[in-house]
Amino acid sequence: MGKVFEVKSKDEFSHARTGVLETAHGEIETPVFMPVGTRGSVKGLTPEQITETDSQIILANTYHMMLRPGADIVEELGGLHKLMAWDKPILTDSGGYQVFSLSTLNKITDSGVEFASHIDGKKYILGPESSIEIQNKLGADIIMAFDECTPFPCPEERLKTAVNRSIRWAEQSLKSHKRDDQLLFGIVQGGIDLALRSGCAEGLVSMGFPGYAIGGLSVGEGHKNMIETVNHTATLLPEDKPRYLMGVGMPPDIIAAVKAGVDMFDCVLPTRNGRNAFAFTQSGAVRLRNSIHTKDSSPIENNCDCYACRNFSRAAIRHFFNVGEMLGPTLVSIHNIRFFQRLIASIKERIKDGSFSSWADKQVEKYQKCGL
Ligand code: GUN
Ligand code: ZN
Repeated sequence: MGKVFEVKSKDEFSHARTGVLETAHGEIETPVFMPVGTRGSVKGLTPEQITETDSQIILANTYHMMLRPGADIVEELGGLHKLMAWDKPILTDSGGYQVFSLSTLNKITDSGVEFASHIDGKKYILGPESSIEIQNKLGADIIMAFDECTPFPCPEERLKTAVNRSIRWAEQSLKSHKRDDQLLFGIVQGGIDLALRSGCAEGLVSMGFPGYAIGGLSVGEGHKNMIETVNHTATLLPEDKPRYLMGVGMPPDIIAAVKAGVDMFDCVLPTRNGRNAFAFTQSGAVRLRNSIHTKDSSPIENNCDCYACRNFSRAAIRHFFNVGEMLGPTLVSIHNIRFFQRLIASIKERIKDGSFSSWADKQVEKYQKCGL
């Protein structure tokens, strides 16, 4: 096998770059935005609809899939790709974030987390060994180390303990990983403490992962803190490995993080907001339940090439939401994912033609002004 990740072009005035990441289900061109299919489905969208937005890779969650239908059943059914009817790349998150945010925690020990399921209260244990074993069964192309994501704000001692535990868990994740057709990424933690980020990055880099994620952000610290932390952390990670900023974010976050040298993003915003009739546009949010759209024959966004904008008026979509038709959430989710993919396409184009850096600053300002 050749190189897993190759940087193709670099911006002259920032750390932004384009690249190609090779996976068992094909190449991914970076920077890349990954729509979220938490429970094995990008809510409301068929794989054909996801593909039409130009999405190259989607994400699923170990935490949800282990609870229902269970990793053994997914494996028996032929793996996550078969279950999802998606033959392009998939990334699974390790559960290290969801156990902390969704379940009732009983005990954190060095071997893992004991928790009660958010569905029926049943007890489970998830740790680096079991998370990787489950992710090996699910069969995604990229899998994540088991980590401890801290809240914001977080007391210094708790932050330190979580970083040290995440480093040990990363090592145990690496040892437990049994499939050479899956890329296992390490996750840097440390909140907004730059010294802790340095220590964590150094520890993980010495283990030699094929890719590195920056976790523990977009948890309430705000754009400025986030970008400061990303700027610091990205430069500590190897140039020749992909960098993934987990759970991010709004358009200004993504643009500023690309500038800092980040290659991969995932976020629930396009689909979650889409289900709530919130559409992303270049001039800000369009709220499709608003009565000003009752007779509005224009598409969600004028220059958008998505399926929803090519075929449906704002008035029609507003009507679907008003009467509870499933097509409403589907159409706005399609538009929103396409909006993020078009943003990524512009970013890539600008990096390649050398005009990224100054454009990026103006875009960040533009989106912040219109509240996105
Ligand atoms: N998703 C968003 N943030 C995180 C994180 O810190 N860790 C993991 N595992 N997933 C995340
Ligand atoms: Zn559209």
